[in-house]
Amino acid sequence: MKNKIEILINKQNEALLGGGKARIESQHKKNKLTARERIELLFDKGSFEEIGMLVTHRTSDFGMEKQIYLGDGVITGYGTIHGRLIYVFSQDFTVFGGSLSETHAEKICKVMDMALRNGAPLIGLNDSGGARIQEGVRSLGGYADIFYRNVRCSGVIPQISAIMGPCAGGAVYSPAMTDFIMMVEHSSYMFVTGPNVVKTVTNEEVTSEALGGAHTHATKSGVTHLTAINDVDCIERLKLLLSYIPQNCEEKPKSIPYEFGTEKREALSEILPENSNQPYDIKDVIGQVIDSDSFFEIHEEYAQNIVIGFGRLAGKSIGIVANQPMILAGCLDVNASKKAARFVRFCDCFNIPLLVFEDVPGFLPGTDQEWNAIISNGAKLLYAFSEATVARITVITRKAYGGAYDVMNSKHIGADFNFAWPTAEIAVMGAKGASEIIFKKEIDEAANHSEKLREKELEYAEMFAHPYIAASRGFIDEVIKPEDTRIKLIKAFASLENKVDKLPSKKHGNIPL
Ligand code: HXC
Repeated sequence: MKNKIEILINKQNEALLGGGKARIESQHKKNKLTARERIELLFDKGSFEEIGMLVTHRTSDFGMEKQIYLGDGVITGYGTIHGRLIYVFSQDFTVFGGSLSETHAEKICKVMDMALRNGAPLIGLNDSGGARIQEGVRSLGGYADIFYRNVRCSGVIPQISAIMGPCAGGAVYSPAMTDFIMMVEHSSYMFVTGPNVVKTVTNEEVTSEALGGAHTHATKSGVTHLTAINDVDCIERLKLLLSYIPQNCEEKPKSIPYEFGTEKREALSEILPENSNQPYDIKDVIGQVIDSDSFFEIHEEYAQNIVIGFGRLAGKSIGIVANQPMILAGCLDVNASKKAARFVRFCDCFNIPLLVFEDVPGFLPGTDQEWNAIISNGAKLLYAFSEATVARITVITRKAYGGAYDVMNSKHIGADFNFAWPTAEIAVMGAKGASEIIFKKEIDEAANHSEKLREKELEYAEMFAHPYIAASRGFIDEVIKPEDTRIKLIKAFASLENKVDKLPSKKHGNIPL
């Protein structure tokens, strides 16, 4: 017996070493942790249980039968994070560069199936040279097995991908289909075709970092939702993200205890400038309304004309979507619409109530926007809100003009409560544009055109640039003082705690992708 246990211990020790000490050192020299060190940081101490530690590849081509590493380049298993069951796979770059073999893929599929069956989130820590070159199509098949499962899991359990090294070629499509992507600055990159292929095909010279590093995907493509300065930071942020979301689509996010105190927030009345064409930072409004220090922003550097993220209101998790008047005057454009639509859909999948702050002068005009399909892309956000059955509340702080009024979670597309501050302006268009159209003749005939325009502008603004017509119709449930926003929202969300709303029975809708 003793001998047999020794054999087991020797095998376990061998597996723990992955590709060996020298490769572990090389990983550390690149400022990267190993797959096991990442798992150690991620899970509650001592909670991780490994599955498939002794799995090996089955290839004999290219002398591979002489290169056997226990675990085959990926560590899979489950454990708890802040007491919650979570499944993980963590690719081990020290074994064939974390490349994906048939058996490596089988291990990932096994934990994906378990996560789905047991209703627990799945985290993928990606650090891989892509398809195991020695295995050819068997590796490609393995990727497809994972892609298929990503889609099966979508909307049932949260899936989060942390890119902590290379992630290239078709391999990018697994993270792309998960709910959130995080990237580590300077040590991770994602692209479909790397710099060499780019150079051959388009003659462009570009580095891996510029082509698909964390900064690029955070600012230009929007592929990554979050960035981190190193592996430790990435894992800390991942855990924080998890704290806002539930285990699966049947559950609600866990609330944290909250003691009621003074919920009035006088500072909210000081944020808006006197001149309604001057910008202010919507994050100041968010910060005052939600529980202090609870805002967790997503896509912070991408399409900054809309702000999205998680927060807590009286301890309960909410998703926030807010126009940002500081950037492009808060106009909706292609990227902002896509960014917000996907977030709204995530929150709706996972029972996270939605809070919208609206200050939007309309859709961004221009050939660039029209030719890049602002029609179909704007429709994504409209569709996403209309489809969402979670509790939904809108606060109009200032402008709510044109089609954007409808899109930003208006009463007409199913919002549960619509509040407006007294500063709200709800109209088809701004006073100047409207006057130029409907009073064109009068202005043209006036001796002083600009004086007449100004006069008509004021007339129009007085008639329409306020919330009271919308309130008289019931499109706005209540015009509220800014300082009361927080308490009104706490009460309104509490009243929606047991909301039941179902979409008509269908196979699935057809969002304009
Ligand atoms: C097998 C691989 C490998 C791979 C790396 N290795 N990638 N083994 N299959 N795809 C091995 C190396 O031989 C080396 O082994 C070890 O991993 C570390 O690799 P290095 O090159 O020394 O590391 P580094 O300099 O950091 O470069 C990392 C890298 C580079 C940029 C990822 O290794 C690389 O370009 N690899 C090939 C990438 C690739 O073309 N993959 C296929 C893409 S197509 P030793 O024994 O020396 O430690 C694809 C299709 C997926 O993925 C389709 C899905 C639909």
